[in-house]
Amino acid sequence: MKNDIGLYSKEFDDIYFSPEDGIGESKAVFLDGINAPECWKDKKAFTVSELGFGSGLNFLLTAKLWCETTSPDQQLIYYSTEKYPLDKSQIEVALEWQDLQPYVSELLEDYPNNDFLFNGRIKLKILLGDSLEQLRFQNFKSDAWYLDGFAPSKNPDMWSDEIFNEMARLSNQKAQVATFTAAGFVKRGLQKVGFQMDKRPGFGKKREMLTGFWHKKSD
Ligand SMILES: C[S@@+](CC[C@H](N)C(=O)[O-])C[C@H]1O[C@@H](n2cnc3c(N)ncnc32)[C@H](O)[C@@H]1O
Repeated sequence: MKNDIGLYSKEFDDIYFSPEDGIGESKAVFLDGINAPECWKDKKAFTVSELGFGSGLNFLLTAKLWCETTSPDQQLIYYSTEKYPLDKSQIEVALEWQDLQPYVSELLEDYPNNDFLFNGRIKLKILLGDSLEQLRFQNFKSDAWYLDGFAPSKNPDMWSDEIFNEMARLSNQKAQVATFTAAGFVKRGLQKVGFQMDKRPGFGKKREMLTGFWHKKSD
């Protein structure tokens, strides 16, 4: 549902992104949080994994920046979990920004298909179902993580130690992580499985957020 506070979930009593500046927030928290585009410079393939596809805003901004900063022989692979997929018309209304329209149209052409080849060189796979159950089935290795599953206090399932364990199992050395929350238990949970975490200033009214990277412990 979209109202004067933007795209909102009744079930979780939370918003999908900032109603004042969704694009600014997504860029500041997630793209800057993983240090894009420097993080994928010179990489033939780069894998981003997101928890909480929602409207696809994070995906579309990542895809746009990828297309603007990489060469045709580089490939982006983007996995995103989603348990409660929005329908096409909700996404259409939510993503009304003009400069995103070509990307939104390409997404909506095939949505709710969950396996896309985007712009010829971006693979998007929406993992439909509960994040933990979906991650348990996977064997990819990720270079970056976006944790975007509503506020931890409202949706603890998306911030469990089991999820953090799966993230560590599915991370490449130095895989980066970014999230809007600065909750202490999230920081500690990620540290426990090998992420080195830092707080940085948050976007808008949020005082702090978390970023970090995964460092494989030597055996
Ligand atoms: C804050 S919104 C994500 C916003 C999104 N990244 C965007 O760009 O629009 C959180 C998303 O997590 C999804 N979600 C909540 N609990 C989930 C779970 N246990 N597993 C998978 N997805 C879940 C919600 O349906 C919602 O789409």
